[in-house]
Amino acid sequence: MPMPISPKPDHAEQLLPKWTYYEDAWFEREHKELFSRAWTFACVVQDIPQPGDYRAVQVNRHGIMVVRGKDGEIRAFHNTCRHRGTQIFEEGKSGNCRHGIVCPYHAWTYNPNDGSLRGLPKKDLAFPDMTLEDWPLHKASVGVLGDLIFVNPQAVPEDDFETWLGSMRDTHMWPHKLDGLSEKRPVRYDFAANWKGFCENAMDGYHLSYLHDKTLMGPDIECQRWDAVGRHWVVFSEAEERPSANPYTRIPGVDTSKPYPVVYQFFPNSGVLSSPIFFSAYTIVPVAPEQCYLELRTWMMPREQQPQAERTKPSSTSGHGHIMPDGKRYISIDTLSCHAMESLDFQIEDMWVCEQQQKALHSPMMQTGPLARLGETPLTWFQQHILDYVPLDGPEMRVAAELHDGHEPLRSAIPTRTAVAAS
Ligand code: FES
Ligand SMILES: [Fe+2]
Repeated sequence: MPMPISPKPDHAEQLLPKWTYYEDAWFEREHKELFSRAWTFACVVQDIPQPGDYRAVQVNRHGIMVVRGKDGEIRAFHNTCRHRGTQIFEEGKSGNCRHGIVCPYHAWTYNPNDGSLRGLPKKDLAFPDMTLEDWPLHKASVGVLGDLIFVNPQAVPEDDFETWLGSMRDTHMWPHKLDGLSEKRPVRYDFAANWKGFCENAMDGYHLSYLHDKTLMGPDIECQRWDAVGRHWVVFSEAEERPSANPYTRIPGVDTSKPYPVVYQFFPNSGVLSSPIFFSAYTIVPVAPEQCYLELRTWMMPREQQPQAERTKPSSTSGHGHIMPDGKRYISIDTLSCHAMESLDFQIEDMWVCEQQQKALHSPMMQTGPLARLGETPLTWFQQHILDYVPLDGPEMRVAAELHDGHEPLRSAIPTRTAVAAS
């Protein structure tokens, strides 16, 4: 039975106490009670085009292999061997396993179609009484939206993929198709902040004209529209009176003559940017209570179809950071050669302000004040979803609240799961 979803709020307020942004015990609860039950963007169908193709991805704390079976079906298994648990495929690696998923340690071999254990060396000598059927790879679940593959670590998710999507597929789908586009170098932004701080920043429409006065420059809150689709936040771009003067080649099929969805934040920690000139998909990976990274993949029209002047530009990012042997660009505040606010990269500006906010959380004086009625209501809605999965009404949490805040937190304002269900 899916959990009830609270409607779009009519006001903005901070529901989560500040210690939920740095407390170890709460972070552990988020992994157990939220991420282990959630759908997260993992990779794209173009990563595994042929039968037997696989891609190993990190989905929050879970190592997952996404495999296209010999029958063409896409499935997901936990990337941990049933013998002594070794990670079978290295994270980020792709390849083909149509002849079997073979653990590198002792060569236990699994069937790529269903994860069953097909064989192992010296079975009669080493494991004479063992029944192979008892030791399949643990199954995870996959869902496909457009070209994006999402993974849920549960073999039988509490919310099936379509329930989790809500009406997204029918009402808010982007027109972009990745076939025919060319992928840019992936970028990983590492920063010292809680993952929720980044999600809230992404949904905060109030800061766009101020923090980003050199980059995005708006839009102002009175011009913003967002829709609640399931637990997902979708923001719209205004219609263009005439195609913008952006120098990059436009992606066919994106109709900008009317307002169109341009940013999607899939609850809890995935997102899509669907612009007329690029398409990006990302996850915000929670590493520790005060550490996370944004992993961003971007596609554009192929280089040979871009105007001559744009072909020599380094990438969709501003060229900060370092390219590592895995082919990704890594960016963090401490490796910049200029101040973050001079970087002319709005993601770096966001990363910087998230770190600034995280640092302030530890000041005894810091408490969140009023939130903007326009622009910050998505934060309230997002926090409500967190509380649906990780409720704040247990006795342990009350003790933690008093210990950390030293006074009554916004507890009376925090709807319990029961109250939400009744509303
Ligand atoms: S740990 Fe995988 S075969 Fe031994
Ligand atoms: Fe921002």
